[in-house]
Amino acid sequence: AWSKVPQGPPDAILGITEAFKADSFKEKINLGVGAYRDDAGKPYVLPSVRTAEDKVVASRSDKEYAGITGIPAFTKAAAELAYGTDSAVLKEDRLVITQTISGTGALRIGGAFLERFYPNAKKIYLPNPSWANHNAVFKDSGLEVEKYRYYNKDTIGLDFEGLIADIKAAPENSIILLHACAHNPTGVDPTQDQWRQISDVMKQKGHFAFFDMAYQGFASGNADQDAFAPRHFVKEGHNIALCQSFAKNMGLYGERVGAFSLVCESAEEKKRVESQVKILIRPFYSNPPIHGARVASAIMNDPALNEQWLGEVKGMADRIIEMRSLLRKNLESLGSKHDWSHITSQIGMFAFTGLKPEQMETLAKEHSVYATKDGRISVAGITSGNVKRLAESIFKVTG
Ligand code: LMR
Repeated sequence: AWSKVPQGPPDAILGITEAFKADSFKEKINLGVGAYRDDAGKPYVLPSVRTAEDKVVASRSDKEYAGITGIPAFTKAAAELAYGTDSAVLKEDRLVITQTISGTGALRIGGAFLERFYPNAKKIYLPNPSWANHNAVFKDSGLEVEKYRYYNKDTIGLDFEGLIADIKAAPENSIILLHACAHNPTGVDPTQDQWRQISDVMKQKGHFAFFDMAYQGFASGNADQDAFAPRHFVKEGHNIALCQSFAKNMGLYGERVGAFSLVCESAEEKKRVESQVKILIRPFYSNPPIHGARVASAIMNDPALNEQWLGEVKGMADRIIEMRSLLRKNLESLGSKHDWSHITSQIGMFAFTGLKPEQMETLAKEHSVYATKDGRISVAGITSGNVKRLAESIFKVTG
């Protein structure tokens, strides 16, 4: 039956892990997937997560199904984390929120909902570049994918003029995907003032803002500050969509904990939209897994544990900042003539090195340094133990 099924390529990001695992060199370095490592290069389970997990296990809870939209104590806390505890949208009961299979699941539910109900053209505009999986998620959702200018190679910064021009040029009522913070892969975010301008232009054009917030807490180390963009848009009257992931900020990667929310016009509209979100999810996967959401809920609903967690997020963000400056210092002290200042000016988990696909291939083949072909490196995979060899490898490849 499958004789005509063609061989597909490995995944642009997760395929890197497979190549890394197949390499037998002891000092190999994996900077592919965005997964936090401690300074010994080991996966890190947050102490707050361990404590919350112990509490969840000790409660001897049953294993009944969650509702279609997940565990209410989790989604309520997730909404407060994203929109702020004093958010008018929450007070006015006009937010639809559902637990999802992490950030990807949130995007997919969002894509499916837009495909079914968005009243205008089913096109979504992604920043160029964007997270490699965005394209596939929205295509599979039946949306047409377009791009808007985002990154300027020459300045290694934001192409703000290009961004505004493209958003202005898009037909009215277009769907625009925005990375709420810590843009993946570039690590380049708009400033707060630029966000205000983006919001104004999008309002003029009647565009729909679809936020992907996979890294809340990772950009500035402060969860409220990182939620500036979606909160500002909501304050300005945009009825946004928002995807949340707890993979990075709680380190719950494999637990698949996330949320998708839609701001509605009224409590009455919310009821109708919520009914359709449920109808959409049920044939997808029926209802979401409970364990990870219970852990996240136990953290966010316990003030002391919540504070501890936010401190741990800051700790991760700080270690990444330290690794950025160590990598830059090492490259400079090797005598590299390139300007590496973007490594320290970019934020979040990734650095967009500017290395070309051939150089990335040489890094992998000759130096056992693995990262995506677009030149993105996950700074979370750098340690004080491997940074020197990493800098030497990059230096050799870039001259
Ligand atoms: C990444 O960009 O590396 C992460 O978002 C993980 C993933 O699923 O790709």
